[in-house]
Amino acid sequence: MTDDGDGDLEARLVEQETFEPSDEFVEQANVSDESIYEEFEEDWPRCWTRAADLLDWDSPYSEVLDDSEEPFYEWFADGTLNASYNCVDRHVESGDKNRAAIKWEGEHGETRTYTYQDLYREVNEFAAALRELGVEEDDVVTLYMPMVPELPIAMLACARIGAPHSVVFAGFSADALATRMNSADSRYLITCDGYYRRGDPLDHLAKANEGLAGVDHGVDATVVVDRLGEDGFGHDLSGNQHDWDDLVADHQGARVDPVERDAEDMLFLMYTSGTTGEPKGVKHTTGGYLAYATWTSHAVLDLEPEDTYWCSADIGWITGHSYIVYGPLSLGTTTVMYEGTPDYPERDRLWELVEKYAVDVFYTAPTAIRAFMKWGSEFPERHDLSSLRLLGTVGEPINPRAWKWYYKHIGNEECPIVDTWWQTETGGMMVTTLPGVGTMKPGSAGPPLPGIDARVVDTEGEEVGAGRAGYLTVDKPWPGMLRTLYNNDERFIGEYWEEYSDPDADEWVYFPEDGAKIDDDGYITILGRVDDVINVSGHRLGTMEIESAIVGVEGVAEAAVVGGDHEVKGEAVYAYVILEDGYDGSEEMREAIIEGVEDAIGPIARPEQVIFTPELPKTRSGKIMRRLLEEIANGEELGDTTTLRNPEIVEDIQAKVSD
Ligand code: WTA
Repeated sequence: MTDDGDGDLEARLVEQETFEPSDEFVEQANVSDESIYEEFEEDWPRCWTRAADLLDWDSPYSEVLDDSEEPFYEWFADGTLNASYNCVDRHVESGDKNRAAIKWEGEHGETRTYTYQDLYREVNEFAAALRELGVEEDDVVTLYMPMVPELPIAMLACARIGAPHSVVFAGFSADALATRMNSADSRYLITCDGYYRRGDPLDHLAKANEGLAGVDHGVDATVVVDRLGEDGFGHDLSGNQHDWDDLVADHQGARVDPVERDAEDMLFLMYTSGTTGEPKGVKHTTGGYLAYATWTSHAVLDLEPEDTYWCSADIGWITGHSYIVYGPLSLGTTTVMYEGTPDYPERDRLWELVEKYAVDVFYTAPTAIRAFMKWGSEFPERHDLSSLRLLGTVGEPINPRAWKWYYKHIGNEECPIVDTWWQTETGGMMVTTLPGVGTMKPGSAGPPLPGIDARVVDTEGEEVGAGRAGYLTVDKPWPGMLRTLYNNDERFIGEYWEEYSDPDADEWVYFPEDGAKIDDDGYITILGRVDDVINVSGHRLGTMEIESAIVGVEGVAEAAVVGGDHEVKGEAVYAYVILEDGYDGSEEMREAIIEGVEDAIGPIARPEQVIFTPELPKTRSGKIMRRLLEEIANGEELGDTTTLRNPEIVEDIQAKVSD
């Protein structure tokens, strides 16, 4: 074996460009016939009944797609169903009540298993509690919770009574919570006293309370899960704050009929970052979203009810919504949830869990794989990973070396890998190989899924030839797509449809704001965001949001934030800052800026470097040259600087960026 420096891969693997799934995998795969692409194309949009048929409907739909008001598409519109019924009750009724639905592991190794019957009981009891607190159909309930089982229970309880949830990632700051509650006009909050990170309890309720203080309307009730017990921080619950266990104890044995929801009724809101400062409230629906999350879990993750499946994302992001909660539970699979980080107490923690639970299918992010590579193959080698059948990645491009490392050291060269491109807005996977059908090409996500009309185009919307960089677009709608941005149809059109659509000709094209290229076989390689969004460890952050947090710090006059390359995180935040007269670039100033960002957004947005400069490189028309700032952050050779108004500043800034 040769060691090529940053990963132990043999030359054979380094050179191999394509990989095929094993016969053994193909034989058992949910989808193994490539005719599916043609079938979907020929029968579009009726092909999508295949997704809808994976669900139980209260009343059937008569029309698959209503496109009378583009781009406000409606799917399965006159059908009715309930998501909680589909994820829980139907498995209890079909005789699978004793199968594990959720296997949860706390950071310290405590475990909890919920069978589908247990989940049924818990969801019903909490749904009854929500009703008693006054939650009505269509009220938005905010869930600001870490990875505890009560999070999916609360989501399903909301779905049961037809109250859309808005989950706010627990790592987000108090300000971020308040902004989201205000935007959604949400009067109910479910949160948690705290959780464990690398052995220490974190005081989550203090953050939640601080967020509540920033909510600009009345909050009717807050429910607090007691996760820390004796390690808790001793907060008293005030007035309309309730302890989860007490509430549920009051509703023991309660049963709440699942509310019959229209397919187009909102299932949840999920806030995500965009080009402008305000986060966008992406609206997903009950029928189309659930059908799509379920279909892709079946076709791409190849899930069967008998499987133990683990997606290591946090439920606070869309990946966790679609592929920890809704997709797997809808299929009746066992889904694993883990509270902690991959390197605590040791760097083999994830592999220990794969072995312990005999995980069949594992889904993670390239940033995690890059960290595993850096730590070395000795950690997975300590464990028996032979239960694995399929591996997946999501969130950012995965380079061929990381792909191959994952293939060899986690999958033992036996598991296919699905590199799945999608977004909060798409609801589910869009571009990826089908594991039982396609050849895999490391570094390229693959062809669009059956029924997905993704293309790579130039600025005019014309398809570009193989190998040339262009922009990814999606020409036809799909069931899992967002329906709008909450209370903001105009911004919905502006953000996603304006760029490539021709409303006069009734041509509507979705623009995800990613760059891409395509090869002769129709395989798409994603090149990354083309808007002012950066991707730090698979998390989408708006540079404008970070800039406005920095400008809010006393003494800061102007700021420009760009993403610089980072070995593990993919991208890291580089903040170029101009101070007001009378302030200097001291260590305190740097700390104040970092704190300002953490307070406004959360630690994930923490700048890697803060670079103080008297000026920013600007064009003659006064626009900041971000491209140049990126090149500086990456220590790259600089492109053209002759169009700058102040070219002399560039060297000055370069000297200040540390390696
Ligand atoms: C990026 C996460 C390359 C992309 C599900 C997209 C990817 C953004 C991939 C969405 C992939 C996601 N290859 N890039 N397989 N998957 N992305 O909304 O830039 O958090 O637009 O959804 O992540 O991030 P979001």
